[in-house]
Amino acid sequence: MEFGPAAGNLAEVSPMEEVSPMELGQVNWGMSRAGAAARPLQGQESMTLPKPGFIPTARMIVESDSEQAEVDTQHERASANNRDARPSDQVRELHPWFQTLNDLPPPPFDWPTLFGNAHPVEVEIGSARGLFLYNAGRTQPDRNFLGIENDLKEAIRGAVRLQRYQVPNARMLGADAKLVFARYLQSGSVEGVHIYFPDPWWKRKHHRRRLFTRTFLDQVARVLSPGGSFHAWTDVGEYFAMMVEIVGQHPLFARQPDPPETTPRDDLDYRTSFERKKRRAGLPIYRGLWQRVGPAAPPLAPASSAETVTPPVDATPPNDGAAPAPRPPV
Ligand SMILES: C[S@@+](CC[C@H](N)C(=O)[O-])C[C@H]1O[C@@H](n2cnc3c(N)ncnc32)[C@H](O)[C@@H]1O
Repeated sequence: MEFGPAAGNLAEVSPMEEVSPMELGQVNWGMSRAGAAARPLQGQESMTLPKPGFIPTARMIVESDSEQAEVDTQHERASANNRDARPSDQVRELHPWFQTLNDLPPPPFDWPTLFGNAHPVEVEIGSARGLFLYNAGRTQPDRNFLGIENDLKEAIRGAVRLQRYQVPNARMLGADAKLVFARYLQSGSVEGVHIYFPDPWWKRKHHRRRLFTRTFLDQVARVLSPGGSFHAWTDVGEYFAMMVEIVGQHPLFARQPDPPETTPRDDLDYRTSFERKKRRAGLPIYRGLWQRVGPAAPPLAPASSAETVTPPVDATPPNDGAAPAPRPPV
């Protein structure tokens, strides 16, 4: 696979905007405020587990009628056996499949600590019910997958699935991906980044809330290792056009052929739950794939203050000016 100029003009890379601590770490406990510990995250200290009132049920992970029946049975048995369990205990029992930043050592992440091995790591943003993590983990046992989901109720649903099938190489992190990318992911530490069906924020005045921005793409470029893959899918044509434009202008990405649509073998044979839902509704799916080109980004500086979240991109070309060896798309 050939690539164009390896690094482009790195000086063109926009400086990262400073991210205010209050803009980062927004998580949604996905339940009524009265029963939830919904609050902005300040560093990693302020996150807490759900308070009593929140019960993650196995019903949350349903993908098909047959699965529903099995899950209902399991849940009834578990409830009957454990009537005194407090909800927060149930969440803790999802460890290590569900974790928050409070459960992890200070940044940056050390993958062998998190996964117990040194396999390559891929990160999904907005994992919701975790179908991607489930399928990717089971079909690619020699890779690790970290999902980041800031709707904690959804994240827990996904983690229930991973726990139920004991998927050893997939984890769900209940956290804001913007915070995780800015402060927790070491430069060049990830071989794949996946964003499937990000919230479209339809109204023009809300477009600024979209996850996919040039600023965020700079972080994706920073954490991806040279040759790594960036996957972004949506059913919203206008949003996809914006993605293509933003990534196309970035010197550290080279577009790859769009992944083809495949025929699902069963209810779970979709990239994500949203892909299934949208395809069943007859909507077109836009599938983007890019490869990280150019040199690796410099290490993430230790966060000495909350405002310092991103190192400048090094404009130094690679040693011999050669493009990194391409890696097949994941
Ligand atoms: C439209 S849903 C798509 C879910 C899943 N990717 C799929 O395709 O089925 C978008 C998901 O992204 C999550 N999300 C949005 N902003 C996020 C952020 N900053 N960090 C982590 N997750 C985020 C939402 O909570 C939601 O679950």
